[in-house]
Amino acid sequence: MIYAVVNTKGGVGKTTTAVHLATMLARIGKTLLIDGDPQASAASWAAWRRDNPTDAPSPTTTCLAGKAILTEGKQLAAGFEHVVVDAGGRDSVGLRSALLLAQMAIIPIGASNLDAAAMTDLLTVVELARDYNPVLDVRVLLTRVDPRTKDAAEMLVFLSEQKLTVLPTKVCERVAFRRAIGEGSIVQELGRDQAAIAEMEAFFKEVQV
Ligand SMILES: Nc1ncnc2c1ncn2[C@@H]1O[C@H](COP(=O)(O)OP(=O)(O)O)[C@@H](O)[C@H]1O
Ligand SMILES: [Mg+2]
Repeated sequence: MIYAVVNTKGGVGKTTTAVHLATMLARIGKTLLIDGDPQASAASWAAWRRDNPTDAPSPTTTCLAGKAILTEGKQLAAGFEHVVVDAGGRDSVGLRSALLLAQMAIIPIGASNLDAAAMTDLLTVVELARDYNPVLDVRVLLTRVDPRTKDAAEMLVFLSEQKLTVLPTKVCERVAFRRAIGEGSIVQELGRDQAAIAEMEAFFKEVQV
């Protein structure tokens, strides 16, 4: 299965979602993590992971840009059971290439900013996904949710009006996610925040086919 984690907006949790998904997939099969973001955050995570050696399975990480995400990505994908693309925010060629390569697009979206700009970005990605790959399975993941507010509920209403499939799991704003990434790890491996772990495991079940 080839997943693309996409949004034109930065800071929504694309990289956090992509490295968690790729590392969870690595437990069940050979997994490739393609860092398609020029900012190379997933590649930084992989470098930190090499600095803190672990017995836990790791995805193979590589950086690709623009069209190469599709062309080289397709060739590389043949050697792996699972592929996850962390698509860059603004590079539209890279974003489109990721959406062409993938079978499932996961769109992390922050529920705390119900502003019009974020909405336009989200709908742009969905439109691109459907134009470029009509059979693509598009799923929205609410991330960085503040459980004390009604933002997520309002967002769910908006998303259902747009006829978008929203994953049942919501990922809350938790320090554990920031810490895990900074250590080249995932929340399961740190083992400190059970709520964060439960969210990631539930998300994983929902996107496995
Ligand atoms: N669920 C979360 N809880 C707390 N911090 C988060 C969460 N998801 C992401 N972050 C933090 O927010 C920032 C942006 O997340 P990141 O995954 O890099 O987003 P993107 O790749 O979309 O730019 C990072 O500092 C990351 O550690
Ligand atoms: Mg990122």
